[in-house]
Amino acid sequence: MNLELRKLHISEIRSRECLRRFNCGVAEIDSWASDKAFRRHAQDRTRVFCARLGADAPVIGFYSLSLSPVGSGLLLGQHADRYPEGFAPFVYIDRLAVMRMQQRNGIGRILLMNALKRAFIVSRDLPFYGVALRSLNDRTTEFYKKMGFAQRENTGHPLMILPIWTIRDLFQTPH
Ligand SMILES: CC(C)(COP(=O)(O)OP(=O)(O)OC[C@H]1O[C@@H](n2cnc3c(N)ncnc32)[C@H](O)[C@@H]1OP(=O)(O)O)[C@@H](O)C(=O)NCCC(=O)NCCS
Repeated sequence: MNLELRKLHISEIRSRECLRRFNCGVAEIDSWASDKAFRRHAQDRTRVFCARLGADAPVIGFYSLSLSPVGSGLLLGQHADRYPEGFAPFVYIDRLAVMRMQQRNGIGRILLMNALKRAFIVSRDLPFYGVALRSLNDRTTEFYKKMGFAQRENTGHPLMILPIWTIRDLFQTPH
């Protein structure tokens, strides 16, 4: 499918209807999207952002962000020393998904960049170590690695992290 990605609008979820029929092919993500996403957003437990091809078009992808601690043993280099309390603060991408029919059109990459841009903006006022997420499978692990994330575990759903200095390099304009 040839999509006009320039028309992609990404904004906060507006109502429960937005994701009611969401289908990315992963049952856990689809049921969370239809049953929980809007409530969690309204309760300030997560922030959900939806992508549409036009301001009032149906949602074709979404991601959700929250704050979460990560054990300092999983940080890069010797950085555990910076967090003697045993954990470091992270912006966490809880979920990221694209409608089945629209996958492999570049939307997932745009959604991820949009999430990182939001994290960058927050980081100017509130310090945190980086952005983290749990990868669903080998395919998604490759997707996140291509985007610069480091894999920190060898489990089925490994933790992936992207430190804030890398995110800053992506978005900070030189003075
Ligand atoms: C993972 C997901 C968000 C990627 O979104 P997308 O719009 O399909 O991805 P893009 O078109 O932006 O592709 C970006 C990269 O993802 C990888 N990728 C995406 N779909 C892939 C597939 N079916 N097979 C192999 N690699 C794939 C590729 O590395 C691709 O880069 P390339 O085009 O240079 O090869 C989407 O496939 C999805 O919603 N999957 C189901 C839910 C899910 O797994 N969410 C992730 C939870 S961690």
